[in-house]
Amino acid sequence: MNIVDLAKFETDHEPRAYVNASVRFHHEFTLEQRFKAAQKAGWNVFQFPSEMLKGGDLLSDSGTTTLTAEQMAAMVLGDEAYGSNYGYFQLLKAFKDTFCVSPDDSEIYLFHQGRATEHALFTQIGKFGRNLKIPNNGHFDTTRANIESNGICAIDCFSEELHKQSFAPFKGNMNLAELENLLKKDYENIPLVYITMTNNSGGGQPVSLENMKKVRALCNKYKKALFYDACRFAENSYFIKTRESKYNKKSIIEIVKEVFDLCDGFTISLKKDGLANMGGALVIKHRCPLLKRYPNLTDDIRNHQILTEGHPTYGGLSGRDIMTICEGLKTVVSDAYLKNRIGQVSIFGEYLKSGGIPVLEPFGGHAVYIDTDKFFADTSLKRSDFAGISLTGLLLLKGVRLCELGAFAFGENYPHNFVRCAVPRNKYEIDDLYYVADCIKKMHKNRHKIPPARPVYGENLPLRHFKARFELRW
Ligand code: F0G
Repeated sequence: MNIVDLAKFETDHEPRAYVNASVRFHHEFTLEQRFKAAQKAGWNVFQFPSEMLKGGDLLSDSGTTTLTAEQMAAMVLGDEAYGSNYGYFQLLKAFKDTFCVSPDDSEIYLFHQGRATEHALFTQIGKFGRNLKIPNNGHFDTTRANIESNGICAIDCFSEELHKQSFAPFKGNMNLAELENLLKKDYENIPLVYITMTNNSGGGQPVSLENMKKVRALCNKYKKALFYDACRFAENSYFIKTRESKYNKKSIIEIVKEVFDLCDGFTISLKKDGLANMGGALVIKHRCPLLKRYPNLTDDIRNHQILTEGHPTYGGLSGRDIMTICEGLKTVVSDAYLKNRIGQVSIFGEYLKSGGIPVLEPFGGHAVYIDTDKFFADTSLKRSDFAGISLTGLLLLKGVRLCELGAFAFGENYPHNFVRCAVPRNKYEIDDLYYVADCIKKMHKNRHKIPPARPVYGENLPLRHFKARFELRW
C-alpha cells in the first residue's frame, strides 16, 4: 500500500484554523506536499515545517503557549538595559510571591531555558566526585542527558502504580522504597534527590504533597538535599488540590507555597508553567545542605552563568521575555486558568479513549499519552520496529504532530513506550484537538497496514530522537 493512501480519510471534525503561522502565511497543503516534506525530514517530526501543520501541533507544550493580553502589554514595558533591568526586579517579586524565595534566602539564577539550568547545576555537581548518582521519580530526557554527560548516573524511581492499569491519583510519585534502598546503599554518592513535577517521562502524572513530604523526611534522615524539576508546578498543585482531600480547601498559591517550602532548590523551565515562550531558572536556598560541603558551589554556578548566558540580572533573556514570565506566573496559579487547562486535556483524553485508543489513565496534566505497545498489540510490529515513530510520521500527512517518547527516544528496554500528545497552553480550541483525535482513531483502524520505521541515520547517536532519520517501509 502506498504510504499516502494511509492518510486518505475524512475526519468528523475540522480544525478551527491553521493556527501555526500568521494569517498572511496561510496556505492549504496537499497530502502529497506533506508527504514530500515528511520524506525530506526523514520522518523526524522535529524536522517537519510547522507551517504545514493543520491545527494540531502537539509536539510539545514547551514555549508554545499563546501569550495573554496581560503578557503582551507587559512586554511593551520590557526594559532592555544590560544590567539590573526593570523586569529583573519584577521577576524577583514574582518569585517571592510564587515560590517564597528571594535573594535574602536563596541564590536565584536566570537562564534562557530549563536545560541550561540543568547544565549549569550538573556541570558543577559532576566535579564533586566519581560514581555519583541522582535519583528521580522520572528524569526528563534533557535532565538525564545533562546528568550523564557529567559522569553522574541518573536513576529513575518510578512509582509502582505507574505500571498498573488501575486508577491511582498520583502515579508520578517517587517510589519511596527504591529511593530509601538507594540512599542506604549509596549514601556517599548521592548529592541530591530530585523530584520532577509533573512526571513528564512517566505520563505527565502528578506527585502528591504527601509523597513529597515523605521524600523530604528521607532526605532529612540521610542528610541529603531535595531539589525539584518544577516545570509544571502549577498543574501539579491543581492535582494536589483536586485529588488530595486534605488540600481541597486550600488555594493553589497556598499549595504551591507549601510544596516549595519543602525543597532546598529547584530547576524550572519557565516555558511550561511560566506561560512564557522562553526562560528558565535555578534556585538554591542558602539552607541547602550541599552548600555546607561545597561552599563554592553557588559562586561556581554564577561564573558559569556569566560565561554562558550573560549578566545575572538578565541571564540569557531579553527584557521582554522577563516581563512575560512575571505576568505568566500570576496567571498560572489561578484556579480558573488551571481548571480550564487541565479540563481541556481531559476532554481530549476522554474523546481518544471513547474511540478505543489505549491511553494512560488518569490523563496527564499537560498531555495525553498513547500506549504504543497496546495501540499495536494485535499487529506484527515489535518494539524494535519503532511503530510510535511510524504513527507520528504518518500523522504529519494530516497536518498533526505528536512526539514519540518511548522505544526510540529512550531505548527498547525503557519501561514505557508512549506517543505523547502535549497540549500547548492557551492555544487550541476543543475542535482542534478533536481533529487530532479523529486522525489518531483513523490511524488506529489502519494499524495493521502501518509499516515499521527503519532508522537510516543516527540510530546509535546520543539523544537520537532529535537527530535520527527514518524510512517507513515493510
Ligand atoms: N524538565 C522537564 C520535566 C521537561 O519537561 C523539560 C522540557 C525540561 C526539563 C527542559 O526544559 O525545554 O526549557 O530546556 N520539556 C519539553 C517537552 C521540551 O516537550 O516536554 P527546556
